[in-house]
Amino acid sequence: MATTYDAVVIGGGPGGYVCSIRLAQLKQKVLCVEKDEVGGVCLNWGCVPSKALIAASHTYEKAKDGASMGLICDNVRVDVNKMQDWKGGIVKKLTTGIRGLFRGNGVELVMGNAKITGKNQVTITTSEGGTQVVEAKNIVVATGSSTIEIPTFKFDGKKIIGAKEAVSLREIPKRMLVIGGGVIGLELGCVYQKLGSEITVVEATASLLPGVDPDLTAVVEKRLVKHGAKIMKSAKAAGYETQADGSLAVRVDLGDGKFETIVTDMVLVAVGMRPNGAGLGLEELGVKVERGFVPCDQLGRTAVPNIYAIGDVSGQPMLAHKASKEGEVVAEIIAGHKAAKDWVAIPAAIFTDPEIAVAGVSEEEAKKKGLDVKIGKFPFAALGRAMAVNETDGFFKIVSDKATHQVLGIHIVGPSASDLISEGALALEMHAFLEDIGLTIHPHPTLGEGLMEASMNGLGHAVHILNR
Ligand code: NAI
Repeated sequence: MATTYDAVVIGGGPGGYVCSIRLAQLKQKVLCVEKDEVGGVCLNWGCVPSKALIAASHTYEKAKDGASMGLICDNVRVDVNKMQDWKGGIVKKLTTGIRGLFRGNGVELVMGNAKITGKNQVTITTSEGGTQVVEAKNIVVATGSSTIEIPTFKFDGKKIIGAKEAVSLREIPKRMLVIGGGVIGLELGCVYQKLGSEITVVEATASLLPGVDPDLTAVVEKRLVKHGAKIMKSAKAAGYETQADGSLAVRVDLGDGKFETIVTDMVLVAVGMRPNGAGLGLEELGVKVERGFVPCDQLGRTAVPNIYAIGDVSGQPMLAHKASKEGEVVAEIIAGHKAAKDWVAIPAAIFTDPEIAVAGVSEEEAKKKGLDVKIGKFPFAALGRAMAVNETDGFFKIVSDKATHQVLGIHIVGPSASDLISEGALALEMHAFLEDIGLTIHPHPTLGEGLMEASMNGLGHAVHILNR
């Protein structure tokens, strides 16, 4: 007889594994099914490995540029194999950690491919090749998303690669062309630029990181260009030819019938991710799957109420922390608690150089909504700490309601923006006012003082800049 679970979670990424652990904490009998490796794309091939490489390349650059700080580092070199092994060790530690948390909390894990074969039934083709049928009072779809391929640039894993291969390279290409100036393209573009590759970015729209405040992206673009990158905007990679020496001649469509050929050694395709909602058996049960997305309500329920969807597959933004939060919410709902997706803001962090981090509405969005806003700004260059860490590019921008001073959005480009944004997210969740941030004593000398000063600038009296 098939085992009955309170919940079967399909997918063990940051959505699914967090949901499974929370379900177990809430005394639910839970099974997590994962076809690849626990931790999903985020831990294995995405967020975590890329951040390790970003940190390594940043340290390398710092060492090379150490002379201005009085550090003479001669003959600094990259051992890319060692770097990959170090990165692999971090990934291993984290995935082993999840398996340990599963065991400790009593989450059962089956490695295999799950299909929903009934409202309360999941059939698993196990990695060993067997079949397992389980009964589930609730099913949580947490299947994530997959890299989008461009037909004219089919992945070959060697010269035409996606993010998964790009975080696993054991040779640094002399030249790399990145298709897509989005998050993955720019994060990994920055890595390989620092490690010595000549970078070209081909972005279809008129700006890098579409959707992010252009004042912020301008800082990242300027730095990429300063270090030799070629940025081609409103451009599309049309196709390529392999040359006699093995290099690739990529034809870039600049619009208006104009083309340019860029010769490169490797092409990284980073044009987005497609949600993995199709082929799971959902449509057969009457759950609509829209371009891979599985639509769900504020409680995470699909059209079949005991089937939930969380993370990338449930909708934008495709961010690990949003998936984890949804996982916790759905676990609590399944366990009979009152919970809902009722956050004010989902912060986002982009690990370019310098970093970008945002929470809440941008200046442009606020204007589009017809809101009367006040903008407070403060540059990193005016912070003693930024000078001391030798990273002064960037600024803080805080959008607030002009009449009430309520904080509506925080936008940071600069060192440690990804860490600094948490205070902004808290401010939004607490419905804080400029005065709340501005009057809070921030330790000196820290980068966090910038948010305090930007708030005070919004109020017209930041101390360390002229308030215009
Ligand atoms: P993305 O949506 O961020 O960027 C894709 C870019 O490619 C866009 O700028 C788009 O205009 C461009 N594009 C699309 N088709 C094109 C074409 N044919 N030629 C040239 N440009 C084209 O997607 P990306 O970078 O692949 O990332 C995937 C997902 O992973 C995103 O949803 C992102 O949120 C997430 N992610 C988040 C990270 C973070 O939070 N730090 C890190 C990495 C990924």
